[in-house]
Amino acid sequence: MKFLGIGSALPKKVVSNDDLAQVMDTSDEWIRSRTGIGTRHIAVEETTTSMSVEAAGKALKDAGVSAEELDLIIAATVSPDYIFPTLACEVQSALGAVNATAFDLGAGCSGFLFALATADAYLRTGRFKKALVIGAETLSKMVDWEDRSTCVLFGDGAGAAVISAEGNGLLSMVQGSDGAGGMALSCKNRPVNNIYHKLGPQQYSFTQMNGREVYKFAVQTVPKAVSEALEKAQVPIEEVKYFLLHQANIRIIESVAKRLHQPMEKFPTNLEKCGNVSAASVPILLDDVLKQGLLQKGDKVVLAGFGAGLTWGSCVIEWQA
Ligand code: UT7
Repeated sequence: MKFLGIGSALPKKVVSNDDLAQVMDTSDEWIRSRTGIGTRHIAVEETTTSMSVEAAGKALKDAGVSAEELDLIIAATVSPDYIFPTLACEVQSALGAVNATAFDLGAGCSGFLFALATADAYLRTGRFKKALVIGAETLSKMVDWEDRSTCVLFGDGAGAAVISAEGNGLLSMVQGSDGAGGMALSCKNRPVNNIYHKLGPQQYSFTQMNGREVYKFAVQTVPKAVSEALEKAQVPIEEVKYFLLHQANIRIIESVAKRLHQPMEKFPTNLEKCGNVSAASVPILLDDVLKQGLLQKGDKVVLAGFGAGLTWGSCVIEWQA
């Protein structure tokens, strides 16, 4: 496969660390020094669907592909607007992508990597030719705004890629899961509450995170997954132009860079302005890098995601667009 076009969308409202410090017991100093986050975009009028449609529209335009040409849409999200219909079907409808098969996929912050791997596998069957892969989240509705240890970390946004079956742009793909560690980062769905099983007043559940466990998991797993992807692709690490990692915490990115013996200059970030946008972070970062004109044909790039599940994914791509 190869990438034909990329797009992203962020909500208008920007919330700084200082803004948060006015409404909860936190500070710019704590958030910046522990995470590298400075601001995040928070959906007010936007929805997961509207941001996905905007990002997808930009990706289609960038690719020069019409919505009718898409035969596959996969959306990675843990925060769709509806449990059903899926986000992918909502996007299909809004775009008029009438020839596409559309479905969602949930793999937490590894979602975009998992969706890309799935789309690639579908394209390889020959049944599909052009796919739209989306990572989109409105995490601001999934966090408890009274829990300062989680709500300051996350932001909202969407990223999308149009990919084609033609081309050899994906050199390797590595994925993994460890369900046994899953409760380190969780958010319950609705509780059972029916005429046979009454729960009393129904309550929303919000994101629960054991930050230290997730941190440990990330710094141990990501370098291994990246090394494995490079080995599979037979690409020496020195040939990699950029490592585009899921943007969870600058200290995680620094630790991965150190473990891989690579300079931080090879690890572009947008964490400072976007916070952790879960499944949307990698495609938004890819879009940022492209907009800055940092990628040329033939460049080798590593993408890596990690998070809830626990899950991880990493791939090596050769830029062919
Ligand atoms: O997308 C993947 C999902 N998430 C991640 O990758 C997150 C991975 N983990 C992390 O990034 C870090 O563990 C955090 C940034 C979440 C937390 O950093 P930490 O250095 O592990 O801090 P901590 O949780 O151990 O908390 C240290 C202190 C605590 O106070 P005490 O108990 O030491 O007095 C917290 O109550 O910091 C306090 N604290 C805060 N203080 C100010 C927690 N949240 C805040 C806050 N502002 N927002």
